[in-house]
Amino acid sequence: MKKIALALAAVAGLAATGAQAQDYPNRPITMIVPFAAGGPTDVVARIVTDHMSRTLGQQIVIENVAGAGGTTGITRGAQAQPDGYTIMMGHMGTHGAAPALYPNLKYDPTKDFAPIGLAAGTPILIVAKKDFPAKDLKEFVAYMKSNASKVNQAHAGVGSVSHSTGILFDSIISAKPTLVAYRGTGPALNDLMSGTVDFMTDQIVNVAPQIQGGNIKAYAIATPERSPALPDVPTTKEAGLGDYQVSAWNAVFAPKGTPPDIVKKLNDALVKSLDDENTKKRLLELGGVLPSAAERTPEGLQKLVESEVARWTPVLKAAGASAE
Ligand code: MLT
Repeated sequence: MKKIALALAAVAGLAATGAQAQDYPNRPITMIVPFAAGGPTDVVARIVTDHMSRTLGQQIVIENVAGAGGTTGITRGAQAQPDGYTIMMGHMGTHGAAPALYPNLKYDPTKDFAPIGLAAGTPILIVAKKDFPAKDLKEFVAYMKSNASKVNQAHAGVGSVSHSTGILFDSIISAKPTLVAYRGTGPALNDLMSGTVDFMTDQIVNVAPQIQGGNIKAYAIATPERSPALPDVPTTKEAGLGDYQVSAWNAVFAPKGTPPDIVKKLNDALVKSLDDENTKKRLLELGGVLPSAAERTPEGLQKLVESEVARWTPVLKAAGASAE
């Protein structure tokens, strides 16, 4: 009797999931952005969800949940109901660097999510306040080597992209500046423009407009090639620091256990958004890198997360980083 009841319950469960997925979404969806509004992750989220909302026929509401280098918001997302109504924008920090920096991290990036797909690659730039006393990267590195303790370096919390790529930079040039944490590199950029903080390593989609506007200066971009959005900014290799090669990414995740049909609907909406001319234009003009077809799949994102966790753990431990 018990076996029949269990079988019936399982069938009912599957049917419910099927029905749930069939009319999904029938109410607005929340996307958790684990950093302050106005920063790169928020910008990528708002650009890609604009068209996703149209495909899904429901509004995607951005909820900024900042703190602990993005792990506060991602923890909340990982623990949300796996019903497709709470998704999140994670990135190379929350789903790559964090495990190395948070021994008590409340989620495993490789196990506790239903990956939806990569939203944008985001090259990293070394940027400084407009009147920083170094005209190029060589002079900046020389200045840092002899004045590091007087230099303030902004980041968005331990384990964030700006933190992990920042301490990698510091370890490569053997400098130890004063680190200043923000709830996102959106607010950090405001202080960089006002001169309250000296420099940071940040994602191109955040800093490109201010570099183009001459409000901050860019010493180099840490990718093998220059960005079409910033053709005058040299690569780190051209500027004499070829060892500093690093890029970030932002991607959409749902909680583990989200029904496959719902994952498929979310991925389909993301892919259609990335194929939309206006979405592409907005991401490209900010220097974003459009994911390839393979990178847009849930399987491709799962592989990326696994490789990023494996890549960043030894790098950050070697750089002597830790959060706790
Ligand atoms: C942000 O959106 O503020 C950034 O992604 C934070 C970071 O990881 O540097």
